[in-house]
Amino acid sequence: MDKYIINGGKRLTGEVEISGAKNAAVAIIPATILADEPCILENVPSINDVTIDLRILRELGADVKMLNRNTIRIDPRPIRDMPVPYELARSMRASYYFLSTLLNRFGHAQVPMPGGCYLGDRPMDQHLKCFRSLGAKYSIEHGVVNIEADTLYGTHIPFDKVSVGATINAMLAAVKAEGQTIIENAAKEPHIVDLANFLNSMGADIMGAGTDVIKIKGVSRLHGAEYAIIPDQIEAGTFMIAVAATKGDALIKNVIPKHLEPITSKLRKIGVVVMEYDDSVRVIGQGNYEHTMVRTMPHPGFPTDMQPQFAALLTLANGTSIINEGIFDNRFRYADELRRMGADISVDGKMAIIEGVDHLTGAPVKATDLRAGAALIIAGLSTDGVTEIEDIYHIERGYDNMDGKLRAMGADIVKRTFSESIRQAI
Ligand code: EPU
Repeated sequence: MDKYIINGGKRLTGEVEISGAKNAAVAIIPATILADEPCILENVPSINDVTIDLRILRELGADVKMLNRNTIRIDPRPIRDMPVPYELARSMRASYYFLSTLLNRFGHAQVPMPGGCYLGDRPMDQHLKCFRSLGAKYSIEHGVVNIEADTLYGTHIPFDKVSVGATINAMLAAVKAEGQTIIENAAKEPHIVDLANFLNSMGADIMGAGTDVIKIKGVSRLHGAEYAIIPDQIEAGTFMIAVAATKGDALIKNVIPKHLEPITSKLRKIGVVVMEYDDSVRVIGQGNYEHTMVRTMPHPGFPTDMQPQFAALLTLANGTSIINEGIFDNRFRYADELRRMGADISVDGKMAIIEGVDHLTGAPVKATDLRAGAALIIAGLSTDGVTEIEDIYHIERGYDNMDGKLRAMGADIVKRTFSESIRQAI
């Protein structure tokens, strides 16, 4: 019920420090279950999806200690053989990584079907295909996936489609299987490489992560490790667009510029100045941007997780822009909300057509999912009026202190809790 209230029209300036990557963290945290010693994870983002992951680990019996805001010590040794609690698993997509990790640890696992953002149909057939190929049996009953295997055997897994989650589950399942596993048509996102690096630092033998083919030689044990999670390229891209949309000038720090290339090149194409340094990028917004065409694709293509934010920027560009969503069936639910703010955007299946307008106006809107919420923040920051964004729990699932970071850059954004909203209304 909490809201963000944005009094828009302020240029973003100064600098912002990007947090650790959500989609790497939600894979690496359950991966600690595979270790037979404690692990220390650094640069962990302080976001609700991580909180849920840690609650699941604690419910299972792990000893989880926060060493500071972004460093966590996880001792997986006390974990008990029990089902993953229903409500926790249902509240995030990445809970499916407990399938492979608990299967590896106990020879079976019971994990409720995952939740997460509604972006259209999100089947799990490729995950189940990989478990079956490795020799596991599964059933789905009463909304829970039950999976078991006395031993997992290395095998060949040619995925029918590129899936981040299924690639990660295949790596987590195969890492301790008997013999060699070859994953073909693997996803290549930076978080796939990050997970492979973490597992290798624990003693795994994984080669080829970041390419189409990943080779894994199973090992019998994984030891503890101390590991720093990579910066979040989607959070970085979101701030880059926010700076551009407010005609600001700011340094985005703690990034890997290479991971941002698909975003950087699109921003440059429409007229945003982006300067790259070793571990930061400076963005200078000019206004008066050109229209463009965007098609989202698996990495290294333009990321689907940046599509709503980029669309928000294109609502203010000159001429007609076209967005083709190449990953999910329903990732334009934010269009209705942007229209409330005066955007001219029409959606036809997996394509959106945006006619640039002169300006947007503040309005009451709802975050329909995580990245849709980020798009509404960007739209709100770029207009002169007041924008109230409801359902910000979606945003807090994946952005670490978004409002605080924006305030430090000059934005007028406050979070109002529900009780405060009522108090102000009476
Ligand atoms: N798909 C299948 N069968 C499967 C798995 C996926 O058909 O078994 C399809 C999906 O329906 C989709 C496509 O394959 O059309 C790609 O889905 P993918 O499995 O790659 O997505 P995911 O693992 O469910 C992760 C991120 C998403 C991000 C996508 C694509 C996590 C926890 N989530 O989801 O992140 O959009 O990869 O990059 O890593 C976000 O952060 O906002 C977010 C939604």
